[in-house]
Amino acid sequence: MVEEVVSSSPPSAGKKASRQPVPLSQVSTDAIARESTGIDEVDRVLGGGIVPGAFVLLGGDPGIGKSTLLLQIAAHVSQRGPVLYVTAEESEVQTRIRAERLGVNSDNLYLLAEGNIQIITEAMKSQSWLMAVVDSLQTAYNPGLESAPGSVAQVRDVASQLMRVAKQGCPVFLVGHVNKEGSMRPAA
Ligand SMILES: Nc1ncnc2c1ncn2[C@@H]1O[C@H](COP(=O)(O)OP(=O)(O)O)[C@@H](O)[C@H]1O
Ligand SMILES: [Mg+2]
Repeated sequence: MVEEVVSSSPPSAGKKASRQPVPLSQVSTDAIARESTGIDEVDRVLGGGIVPGAFVLLGGDPGIGKSTLLLQIAAHVSQRGPVLYVTAEESEVQTRIRAERLGVNSDNLYLLAEGNIQIITEAMKSQSWLMAVVDSLQTAYNPGLESAPGSVAQVRDVASQLMRVAKQGCPVFLVGHVNKEGSMRPAA
């Protein structure tokens, strides 16, 4: 059994759809500026850099270097605009200490030590970020759900809310821990 939140505002059925299907050949890619992560190999994996609306899940064993890599990328991208780094695992001070160790610093890099997905998505929508990092999928939570952070219901809810924000334009990098079985799926 999986717990679901009943939405208070039902999807606006009957409302005129604002989006219409478009032929693939007419989708313009001219205006798409790919943002470099500052690391060639990461750019290559992303197909040349970060595109608006990108939703990237960075999975790996605990301690493999996910937070470190994303802090480096966030600091690099913040040279060209505001970047939001949400950490639900570490405090702002811990992240600052890591940044100092990495030799990165930027007034355009904003830290939010928060796990509540409502506060996280509000911060993400509060201004036009060049990029946002959420660390991690398993520690962010919806307080409207009774199950613990990291449970199937929580992970599904958090991921879908972040995906929705990403599709509005703000590229999102989401950290996901991989368990001993090599899976990102929580034990049900
Ligand atoms: N590329 C790297 N080379 C060497 N050590 C690293 C590298 N990336 C991270 N580390 C070190 O590994 C440890 C765990 O990194 P961290 O980013 O916290 O991992 P995760 O977020 O995946 O749990 C830290 O002490 C960090 O300094
Ligand atoms: Mg980490």
